[in-house]
Amino acid sequence: MDQRELLKKITDAVREAGSIMLHADRSQSSIDEKAGHGNFVTVYDKRIQKMLKESLLKILPEAVFVGEEEDIHASVEKGYAFIVDPIDGTTNFIKDYHMSVVSVGLILDGEKYMGVVYNPYSDEMFTAIRGQGAYLNGKPIRVSSELLENGIVLFGTAPYYEDLSRRSFEMAFDYFKKALDVRRSGSAAFDLCSIAAGRAELFFELSLSPWDYAAGALIVEEAGGKVTTIEGKPLSLDRGCSVLATNGVCGKCEALAE
Ligand code: IPD
Ligand code: CA
Ligand code: CA
Repeated sequence: MDQRELLKKITDAVREAGSIMLHADRSQSSIDEKAGHGNFVTVYDKRIQKMLKESLLKILPEAVFVGEEEDIHASVEKGYAFIVDPIDGTTNFIKDYHMSVVSVGLILDGEKYMGVVYNPYSDEMFTAIRGQGAYLNGKPIRVSSELLENGIVLFGTAPYYEDLSRRSFEMAFDYFKKALDVRRSGSAAFDLCSIAAGRAELFFELSLSPWDYAAGALIVEEAGGKVTTIEGKPLSLDRGCSVLATNGVCGKCEALAE
Protein backbone atom coordinates (compact mmCIF):
# COMPACT_ATOMS: atom_id res chain seq x y z
CA MET A 1 0.00 0.00 0.00
CA ASP A 2 1.19 3.48 -0.85
CA GLN A 3 2.28 5.58 2.19
CA ARG A 4 -0.32 8.31 1.64
CA GLU A 5 -3.10 5.76 1.36
CA LEU A 6 -1.92 4.05 4.54
CA LEU A 7 -1.82 7.34 6.43
CA LYS A 8 -5.29 8.25 5.16
CA LYS A 9 -6.72 4.96 6.41
CA ILE A 10 -5.09 5.42 9.81
CA THR A 11 -6.37 8.99 10.14
CA ASP A 12 -9.89 7.82 9.22
CA ALA A 13 -9.78 5.26 12.05
CA VAL A 14 -8.36 7.81 14.47
CA ARG A 15 -11.03 10.37 13.54
CA GLU A 16 -13.71 7.79 14.29
CA ALA A 17 -12.04 7.07 17.63
CA GLY A 18 -12.04 10.81 18.38
CA SER A 19 -15.73 10.99 17.59
CA ILE A 20 -16.44 8.28 20.18
CA MET A 21 -14.51 10.38 22.73
CA LEU A 22 -16.33 13.56 21.76
CA HIS A 23 -19.80 12.04 21.98
CA ALA A 24 -19.19 9.94 25.08
CA ASP A 25 -21.88 9.87 27.70
CA ARG A 26 -19.47 10.33 30.56
CA SER A 27 -22.23 9.95 33.17
CA GLN A 28 -22.55 6.35 31.96
CA SER A 29 -18.82 5.81 32.04
CA SER A 30 -17.68 3.73 35.00
CA ILE A 31 -14.19 4.53 36.23
CA ASP A 32 -11.64 1.97 37.46
CA GLU A 33 -8.37 2.72 39.18
CA LYS A 34 -5.04 1.38 37.92
CA ALA A 35 -1.65 1.24 39.67
CA GLY A 36 -0.29 4.69 40.61
CA HIS A 37 -1.67 7.92 42.02
CA GLY A 38 -4.86 9.09 40.23
CA ASN A 39 -4.40 6.58 37.41
CA PHE A 40 -7.87 5.82 36.08
CA VAL A 41 -9.37 3.94 33.16
CA THR A 42 -12.91 4.41 31.85
CA VAL A 43 -15.05 2.18 29.67
CA TYR A 44 -14.26 4.63 26.87
CA ASP A 45 -10.49 4.03 27.07
CA LYS A 46 -11.25 0.34 26.62
CA ARG A 47 -13.95 0.84 23.98
CA ILE A 48 -11.85 3.20 21.84
CA GLN A 49 -8.84 0.91 22.08
CA LYS A 50 -10.95 -2.09 21.01
CA MET A 51 -12.32 -0.14 18.03
CA LEU A 52 -8.83 1.03 17.02
CA LYS A 53 -7.34 -2.42 17.38
CA GLU A 54 -9.97 -3.85 15.05
CA SER A 55 -9.73 -1.14 12.42
CA LEU A 56 -5.92 -0.73 12.47
CA LEU A 57 -5.34 -4.46 12.18
CA LYS A 58 -7.78 -4.54 9.29
CA ILE A 59 -5.59 -1.92 7.55
CA LEU A 60 -2.30 -3.75 8.33
CA PRO A 61 -3.09 -7.33 9.40
CA GLU A 62 0.60 -8.21 9.77
CA ALA A 63 1.18 -5.48 12.38
CA VAL A 64 1.71 -6.03 16.09
CA PHE A 65 -0.65 -4.00 18.29
CA VAL A 66 0.51 -2.37 21.52
CA GLY A 67 -2.16 -0.44 23.38
CA GLU A 68 -2.12 1.19 26.79
CA GLU A 69 -5.13 -0.77 28.00
CA GLU A 70 -3.71 -4.20 27.11
CA ASP A 71 -1.83 -6.41 29.47
CA ILE A 72 0.45 -8.07 26.95
CA HIS A 73 2.91 -5.77 25.23
CA ALA A 74 4.40 -7.41 22.15
CA SER A 75 7.83 -6.69 20.68
CA VAL A 76 8.04 -3.77 18.24
CA GLU A 77 11.48 -4.62 16.85
CA LYS A 78 10.53 -6.40 13.63
CA GLY A 79 7.98 -5.44 10.98
CA TYR A 80 5.06 -3.10 11.62
CA ALA A 81 3.76 -2.26 15.10
CA PHE A 82 1.01 0.12 16.16
CA ILE A 83 1.56 1.83 19.52
CA VAL A 84 -1.75 3.28 20.64
CA ASP A 85 -3.08 5.49 23.40
CA PRO A 86 -6.88 5.50 22.95
CA ILE A 87 -7.33 8.49 25.27
CA ASP A 88 -4.24 10.49 26.20
CA GLY A 89 -5.56 12.74 28.92
CA THR A 90 -7.91 10.40 30.75
CA THR A 91 -8.14 12.59 33.85
CA ASN A 92 -9.14 15.52 31.62
CA PHE A 93 -11.70 13.26 29.93
CA ILE A 94 -13.19 12.26 33.28
CA LYS A 95 -13.35 15.93 34.29
CA ASP A 96 -14.80 17.03 30.93
CA TYR A 97 -11.82 19.38 30.61
CA HIS A 98 -11.76 19.10 26.79
CA MET A 99 -8.06 18.39 26.44
CA SER A 100 -7.61 14.75 25.45
CA VAL A 101 -6.37 13.19 22.24
CA VAL A 102 -6.14 9.88 20.40
CA SER A 103 -2.55 8.89 19.64
CA VAL A 104 -1.44 6.25 17.12
CA GLY A 105 2.21 5.63 16.28
CA LEU A 106 3.24 3.20 13.55
CA ILE A 107 6.67 1.64 13.97
CA LEU A 108 8.59 -0.14 11.19
CA ASP A 109 11.49 -2.41 12.18
CA GLY A 110 11.86 -0.66 15.52
CA GLU A 111 11.89 2.90 14.08
CA LYS A 112 9.13 5.53 14.19
CA TYR A 113 7.45 5.49 10.76
CA MET A 114 4.11 7.33 11.03
CA GLY A 115 2.48 9.39 13.77
CA VAL A 116 -1.14 10.50 14.12
CA VAL A 117 -2.49 12.55 17.04
CA TYR A 118 -6.08 13.80 16.94
CA ASN A 119 -7.71 16.33 19.24
CA PRO A 120 -11.46 15.90 18.63
CA TYR A 121 -12.36 18.96 20.71
CA SER A 122 -10.48 21.33 18.37
CA ASP A 123 -10.73 19.01 15.35
CA GLU A 124 -6.95 19.11 14.95
CA MET A 125 -5.33 16.16 13.18
CA PHE A 126 -1.52 16.13 13.51
CA THR A 127 0.29 13.71 11.19
CA ALA A 128 3.80 12.78 10.12
CA ILE A 129 5.48 10.23 7.91
CA ARG A 130 9.21 9.73 8.49
CA GLY A 131 11.22 11.96 6.19
CA GLN A 132 8.18 13.82 4.87
CA GLY A 133 7.49 16.60 7.35
CA ALA A 134 4.72 17.18 9.85
CA TYR A 135 1.21 18.42 9.15
CA LEU A 136 -1.78 19.85 10.96
CA ASN A 137 -5.04 19.24 9.12
CA GLY A 138 -3.02 18.74 5.94
CA LYS A 139 -0.94 21.93 6.22
CA PRO A 140 2.81 21.79 6.99
CA ILE A 141 3.89 22.78 10.52
CA ARG A 142 7.30 23.82 11.90
CA VAL A 143 8.72 24.23 15.38
CA SER A 144 9.30 27.82 16.51
CA SER A 145 12.69 29.51 16.31
CA GLU A 146 12.40 31.31 19.66
CA LEU A 147 15.01 31.13 22.39
CA LEU A 148 13.96 29.77 25.77
CA GLU A 149 13.75 33.26 27.26
CA ASN A 150 10.97 34.03 24.77
CA GLY A 151 9.49 30.59 25.08
CA ILE A 152 6.68 28.71 26.76
CA VAL A 153 7.64 25.53 28.60
CA LEU A 154 5.19 22.63 28.77
CA PHE A 155 5.61 19.91 31.33
CA GLY A 156 3.96 16.78 32.60
CA THR A 157 3.93 16.00 36.29
CA ALA A 158 4.55 12.22 35.88
CA PRO A 159 1.42 11.89 38.05
CA TYR A 160 1.55 8.11 38.45
CA TYR A 161 5.08 8.21 39.94
CA GLU A 162 4.95 10.10 43.22
CA ASP A 163 8.72 9.78 43.74
CA LEU A 164 9.23 12.03 40.69
CA SER A 165 6.91 14.87 41.77
CA ARG A 166 9.41 17.01 43.62
CA ARG A 167 11.98 16.87 40.83
CA SER A 168 9.30 17.59 38.21
CA PHE A 169 8.23 20.75 39.99
CA GLU A 170 11.82 21.82 40.72
CA MET A 171 12.63 21.53 37.03
CA ALA A 172 9.42 23.36 36.11
CA PHE A 173 10.39 26.13 38.55
CA ASP A 174 13.85 26.40 36.97
CA TYR A 175 12.34 26.63 33.51
CA PHE A 176 9.71 29.09 34.73
CA LYS A 177 12.52 31.45 35.77
CA LYS A 178 14.28 31.17 32.40
CA ALA A 179 11.26 31.21 30.09
CA LEU A 180 8.16 33.36 29.68
CA ASP A 181 5.89 30.92 31.51
CA VAL A 182 4.97 27.27 31.98
CA ARG A 183 1.84 25.25 31.06
CA ARG A 184 0.47 21.80 32.01
CA SER A 185 -2.16 20.48 29.59
CA GLY A 186 -2.73 16.95 30.92
CA SER A 187 -1.93 15.26 27.59
CA ALA A 188 1.68 14.51 26.74
CA ALA A 189 0.84 13.61 23.13
CA PHE A 190 -0.85 16.97 22.67
CA ASP A 191 2.09 18.77 24.34
CA LEU A 192 4.45 17.21 21.79
CA CYS A 193 2.19 18.41 18.97
CA SER A 194 2.20 21.90 20.50
CA ILE A 195 6.00 21.93 20.23
CA ALA A 196 5.73 20.69 16.63
CA ALA A 197 3.24 23.43 15.75
CA GLY A 198 5.49 26.15 17.21
CA ARG A 199 3.03 27.01 19.99
CA ALA A 200 5.58 26.28 22.71
CA GLU A 201 9.35 25.83 22.81
CA LEU A 202 10.08 23.00 25.23
CA PHE A 203 8.29 20.04 26.81
CA PHE A 204 9.57 17.68 29.47
CA GLU A 205 8.22 14.85 31.60
CA LEU A 206 10.28 12.57 33.83
CA SER A 207 8.44 9.34 33.05
CA LEU A 208 6.19 8.49 30.12
CA SER A 209 5.22 5.31 28.28
CA PRO A 210 5.73 4.58 24.56
CA TRP A 211 2.03 5.11 23.78
CA ASP A 212 2.31 8.68 25.14
CA TYR A 213 5.12 9.66 22.73
CA ALA A 214 5.42 7.15 19.85
CA ALA A 215 3.34 9.36 17.53
CA GLY A 216 4.08 12.81 18.99
CA ALA A 217 7.86 12.38 19.01
CA LEU A 218 7.90 11.71 15.25
CA ILE A 219 5.63 14.71 14.68
CA VAL A 220 8.09 16.94 16.59
CA GLU A 221 11.10 15.57 14.70
CA GLU A 222 9.40 15.96 11.34
CA ALA A 223 8.52 19.55 12.27
CA GLY A 224 12.24 20.24 12.78
CA GLY A 225 12.44 19.74 16.54
CA LYS A 226 14.52 17.48 18.75
CA VAL A 227 13.30 14.73 21.08
CA THR A 228 15.46 12.78 23.53
CA THR A 229 15.31 11.55 27.09
CA ILE A 230 16.22 14.10 29.76
CA GLU A 231 19.76 12.67 29.61
CA GLY A 232 19.92 13.26 25.84
CA LYS A 233 19.52 9.61 24.84
CA PRO A 234 17.15 8.28 22.13
CA LEU A 235 13.63 7.43 23.33
CA SER A 236 12.89 3.75 23.78
CA LEU A 237 9.81 2.28 22.10
CA ASP A 238 9.66 -1.00 24.02
CA ARG A 239 9.57 0.56 27.51
CA GLY A 240 8.98 3.94 29.11
CA CYS A 241 11.49 6.74 29.62
CA SER A 242 11.74 10.47 30.32
CA VAL A 243 11.08 12.87 27.43
CA LEU A 244 12.61 16.24 26.53
CA ALA A 245 11.29 17.83 23.34
CA THR A 246 12.52 21.18 22.10
CA ASN A 247 12.40 23.35 19.02
CA GLY A 248 16.11 22.55 18.71
CA VAL A 249 17.24 26.16 19.10
CA CYS A 250 16.14 27.25 22.55
CA GLY A 251 19.74 27.47 23.79
CA LYS A 252 19.82 26.65 27.46
CA CYS A 253 17.18 23.89 27.22
CA GLU A 254 19.43 20.87 27.32
CA ALA A 255 21.94 22.37 29.76
CA LEU A 256 19.20 23.11 32.25
CA ALA A 257 17.83 19.58 32.07
CA GLU A 258 21.11 17.94 33.12
C1 IPD B 1 -1.05 10.81 30.79
C2 IPD B 1 -1.03 12.16 30.15
C3 IPD B 1 -0.44 13.18 31.10
C4 IPD B 1 0.94 12.78 31.56
C5 IPD B 1 0.94 11.38 32.12
C6 IPD B 1 0.36 10.41 31.10
P1 IPD B 1 -3.09 9.13 30.24
O1 IPD B 1 -1.63 9.84 29.93
O2 IPD B 1 -0.27 12.15 28.96
O3 IPD B 1 -0.30 14.44 30.49
O4 IPD B 1 1.38 13.68 32.54
O5 IPD B 1 2.26 11.03 32.45
O6 IPD B 1 0.39 9.11 31.62
O7 IPD B 1 -2.90 8.32 31.49
O8 IPD B 1 -4.08 10.21 30.38
O9 IPD B 1 -3.23 8.30 29.03
CA1 CA C 1 -1.20 8.55 27.92
CA1 CA D 1 -4.41 6.73 28.03
